[in-house]
Parts: sequence; structure tokens; C-alpha cells
Amino acid sequence: MRTAWNFHSAGQLVFGRGAVRQLGSLLGRRKLSRVFIVTDPRLVTAGLAERVLQPLGAAGITCQVFSGGEPEPAVNVAVAATAEAREYRPDCVLGLGGGSNMDLAKIVAVLIAHCGEPASYFGFDNVPGPVLPIICVPTTAGTGSEVSHAAVLTDTVNHTKVSTLSQYLRPALAIVDPALTDGCPRQVTADSGIDALTHAIEAYTAIDFEQLDAPDGAPVAYEGRYPLGECLAEKAISLIGQHLVAAVKDGSNQAARDGMALAATTAGLAFSNCAVALVHALEYPLGGAVHVSHGAGNGLLLPFVMRYNLPVRKAALARIAALLGESIADLNENEAAEKSIAAVERIRAAIGIPQRLRDLGVKREQLPSFAEKAFAIKRLMGTNPRQPRQADLLQILEAAF
Ligand SMILES: NC(=O)c1ccc[n+]([C@@H]2O[C@H](COP(=O)([O-])OP(=O)(O)OC[C@H]3O[C@@H](n4cnc5c(N)ncnc54)[C@H](O)[C@@H]3O)[C@@H](O)[C@H]2O)c1
Ligand SMILES: [Fe+2]
Repeated sequence: MRTAWNFHSAGQLVFGRGAVRQLGSLLGRRKLSRVFIVTDPRLVTAGLAERVLQPLGAAGITCQVFSGGEPEPAVNVAVAATAEAREYRPDCVLGLGGGSNMDLAKIVAVLIAHCGEPASYFGFDNVPGPVLPIICVPTTAGTGSEVSHAAVLTDTVNHTKVSTLSQYLRPALAIVDPALTDGCPRQVTADSGIDALTHAIEAYTAIDFEQLDAPDGAPVAYEGRYPLGECLAEKAISLIGQHLVAAVKDGSNQAARDGMALAATTAGLAFSNCAVALVHALEYPLGGAVHVSHGAGNGLLLPFVMRYNLPVRKAALARIAALLGESIADLNENEAAEKSIAAVERIRAAIGIPQRLRDLGVKREQLPSFAEKAFAIKRLMGTNPRQPRQADLLQILEAAF
């Protein structure tokens, strides 16, 4: 039984349209003058690297750009980025992009400070001490990596996602400028947006922090559900209910972009303290085996996991239904909870997230290995409000097939 909870965030969070223009003065105040920027070719072409380079150059700050990032980056991309960074000798690492580039930047910051290989730090709390200062500038509204303690890579040998979790991975500085998401492509907007919804719902329906199976005071990857996290998750869910479909349908809708940027960061604060759980556990082997983005995989699985958790999370799911704009006034708790699943299915369909695993090319024979790999991620089993057996995971996957 745990009696106290913890809350962690980025060291400083600057939020607002145009905020990226403050980058030079923000780094100057921290006496940072040699920045290794981790980004990818699409963002260079889209002119977003320039939006960061301009204020840094104007402040006399020296930069080197690594533009070899890729979606859901493989471990060897982190190794390549680190080799370049090591030659350059930066005093900080800036991740510009979606979760993929921000996570790469985090791993570079670890490897520059502590040497070794990415795999030396996989899992929770294996980073031995402070890392190079991490600066995150998101260009998607989704992962919340700009405030989180996580970095996810793809293990292309074992066909699964691998995460490194450490409080040392919280960025020193996060600059969330919704204008950087204005040109985000429709499908990336949809996929990353439903990832944010998954973060908020998994945090909001997680095991209660008192029930987490860990000694009081011991550092844990996730704390379980507690009141501050609930506030953040509620805010994120209602913002996503208001803005996600609009942002996908019309990318030039600035109010929708602003709302989603706030939702993603808020959901990031919620999940990276409270929890993600079965949806993310099941997505790791799925995303490693077939070509699907993290967000689309999560969005596909989310309603099936909500249904599994429904018997023990009726009140929370009923509240989620209301936050997503469903009318629940005349319904009993069970009916209202069911409405949350319908609401997620409605959003999922409206933004074009695949509905079934078979639509992704998954073969039924692969499901037992997905269940086995997911079940092995103990920290994500322990944060779910219902403690699953491996057979339960297989049943969820069968339902989603
Ligand atoms: N660290 C965490 O806490 C955390 C949490 C959830 C997910 N993740 C990880 O984040 C990754 C997914 O990140 P994501 O959903 O943000 O997508 P992403 O970073 O993979 O980006 C997808 C594609 O969109 C392009 N793109 C991004 N923003 C753009 C913009 N504004 N304009 C034009 N193109 C743009 C990118 O160049 C890329 O090709 C996965 O690897 C996932 O596992 C990390
Ligand atoms: Fe996620």
C-alpha cells in the first residue's frame, strides 16, 4: 500500500503560439551555446528546422543539425545520431519533431553523458545520473514526450518497441508552439492525436496509486491514478473531444491546433506520472511486427481495452463519456460507461484510424506471440486496473482481430 504520490514534469514548459521565437533567449539564460538538433528530412523540407535555427542563430548560438530521424526510430538511428553528436561536443540536445525525434534526442543525451549502448538503459531507472540538458520542441500534438520521462525506440531484431524510462529523461525545457503543428499532415494529426487520447484515458482509468504493487517511497515508472493526474487527464480528454476531429478535418483551424497542442502536453503530464497500461503494452509488439504508427495501433486497440477494464472502471468511463460530449443524463452507470467506448469508436472512425488488426495485415497466428510479449512488460500489467492473465490479453487481441 503506497501512501504518497509524486509528480514530475519538464524543468520549464513554455506554451504558446510563436513561443519558439523565444528559444535563443531561453537557451542564453541557461548559458547553453552549442546545440545538437535532432530532426528528420521531412521537417527540414517543411521549413520547421529553420523556425528553430533562426532564433538560435540570432542569439549567436552555434548549432549542428542531425536530420537522419525517422518515424518510430530504430535503435541504430540513435547510435548514428550519437556518433555525430560525440564529434560535435554539444552542451545540450534539442529534439525537434514528433515523439520519434524527441525520443532520439533523449537517447543521444543519455549516451553522450554515460556512454554505452541504447540497450544498456532500456527499462525503468537504468540511467545512472543526469544527462545532457534536453530541449524538446514538438511538431505533432500527440506523444507528450516534451514533458515525459520516456524514450521509445524500435528493436528491429526482436520486432518490438523498447522504452527507456528515467526521471533524468524529463526535458530541461519544453517549448510547445502550436503553430509548429499547423502544417502537420492529416494522418499524422489523427494518429498522434489519438495517442494523446490513449494517454489520457489510460492515466484516468489506471490502478489507484494506493494499490500499486511497490513499496512506499520506492521510485516507480508509473505511480497509478491520483488526483492531480486525474485533473490533467480530464482536461486533456475534454480538449480532445472538442478539437481532434476538427484538427484532422481542417489542419488550418488554429483553435483546433491550439486545443490539441494543449491536450497532448496535458495528457503527457498525466500519463508520464500516473500510467499507461494495456493499450500501450499491446501496441509494442504490434508496432514492432507490422507497419503501423504508434498512435494508430493504440487507437485501434483502445476501445477493446476499455471494454476489458469496464467492469472495474464504470464511474471513470462514464465520466469520460461525458467529457467526450456524450449525453449520459438518463443512463445508469453501466450504460454511461458503455457510451465512452462508443465515443472513442466514433472519433476513431471520423479520423480514419484502422478498426481491426487484420486490416493491418496481422495474421491470427501472430496474436499469441503479441500476448506473450505484452504480458512480459510487467510495469504495464501492474498499472492496469484489472490484473490480466496472458490469456486475457489474447482474448482482447482476438476481439480486435
Ligand atoms: N516519449 C514518450 O513519452 C512517448 C509517448 C508516446 C509515443 N512515443 C513515441 O513517439 C513516436 C510517435 O511520435 P509522433 O506520433 O509524434 O509521430 P512521429 O514523430 O513519428 O512523426 C511522424 C511523421 O510526421 C512527420 N511530421 C511531424 N510533425 C510534422 C509537421 N508539423 N509537419 C510535417 N510533418 C511532420 C515526421 O517528420 C514523421 O515523418 C513513436 O515512436 C512512439 O512510440 C513516445
Ligand atoms: Fe503513446
